[in-house]
Amino acid sequence: YWSVDNIVDNLIESKEIQEAAAFLREGKLVAFPTETVYGLGASARSDEAVTSIFTAKGRPADNPLIVHISQQKDVYNFTKSVPEKAEKLMEKFWPGALTIILAHNGRLSTKVTAGLSTVGLRMPDHPVALALIEASGEPIAAPSANRSGRPSPTTAAHTAEDLQGRIAGIVDGGATGLGVESTVIDCSGELPIILRPGGVTQSQLEAVIGRVEVDQSLTEEAAPRSPGMKYKHYAPEAPLTLVDGDEDFFRSCVRKHKENGEKVGLILFPALASMEADAVYILSDNRIETTARELYSALRTFKKSEVDHILMQAVPADELGFAVMNRLVKAAGGRILTQ
Ligand code: TXA
Ligand code: MG
Repeated sequence: YWSVDNIVDNLIESKEIQEAAAFLREGKLVAFPTETVYGLGASARSDEAVTSIFTAKGRPADNPLIVHISQQKDVYNFTKSVPEKAEKLMEKFWPGALTIILAHNGRLSTKVTAGLSTVGLRMPDHPVALALIEASGEPIAAPSANRSGRPSPTTAAHTAEDLQGRIAGIVDGGATGLGVESTVIDCSGELPIILRPGGVTQSQLEAVIGRVEVDQSLTEEAAPRSPGMKYKHYAPEAPLTLVDGDEDFFRSCVRKHKENGEKVGLILFPALASMEADAVYILSDNRIETTARELYSALRTFKKSEVDHILMQAVPADELGFAVMNRLVKAAGGRILTQ
């Protein structure tokens, strides 16, 4: 456990970063902060190191990992060719919350890419992440540092909650800023396509490279999805239901759950802060940036022993709200009550 939150000068030469980087070079697992969420890092060139990420997380081996680099030019070490549109995106959004999928050249562990012909690359916008990657001298595979199926961690404490005892160490750089993961865009084909909405929005991308597709699975009607989806994602300890409607509708939904004798947990916008429940998390303000930043932390506050059900109002699914609703619908396993 290395705390680097207060180091301002020459982070990369600090004892903390040098120790953590040495662990990575030895093939060990080190969690670290990025601007989106905490990542669980390992050398992306080592089959063994990458395999231990899947084990520590309990992650299905067919779900590929993002490879993190500290310099834009490193992209050319691991890819076959880089289309012009991908280059424009790197120029504009790196370092930042954008993962670009490109055809790889076989120099990374096949475990990272789950045997696919493509790899997801990202240069994170966080001084600690950049210093650690640079100091390690390795490309760093890093999924979010949660146990598979749980909300992603936005603090070192949340990372420890899930992975303590399963990994070599955590670099504590304080709470992350964005709170939702990077946007994943596939640039390996003719037309760029968003596979996961995240910190960089579709309109921001389109302003730089023109038309961008959105993967069909992201725009299908969310409601009919079965609660028993194959894999859980972002799931809190108690079931979450989203409420798509006004404040009166939200109050009536909460009342129904209470009348069923359930202990209810509420994630509330400030206007409803006075509502009573067995546990509440009040978001700091109404801005979508704030909802994104606090979302995973909010989901983690509710303990199984304290609440039977969690309710939250849906947000408009545009711009950053697209990413927030994508995570919320998954966290809710598709449970949405519509007015
Ligand atoms: O913000 C983030 O992206 C964080 C931080 C730590 O960088 N990382 C993250 O990683 O969210 P993870 O593993 O939780 O999510 C990676 C996503 C998955 O949905 C995975 O399927 C997709 O990226 N992905 C990775 N490589 C891919 C590839 N070659 N083709 C298609 N999808 C890919
Ligand atoms: Mg994840």
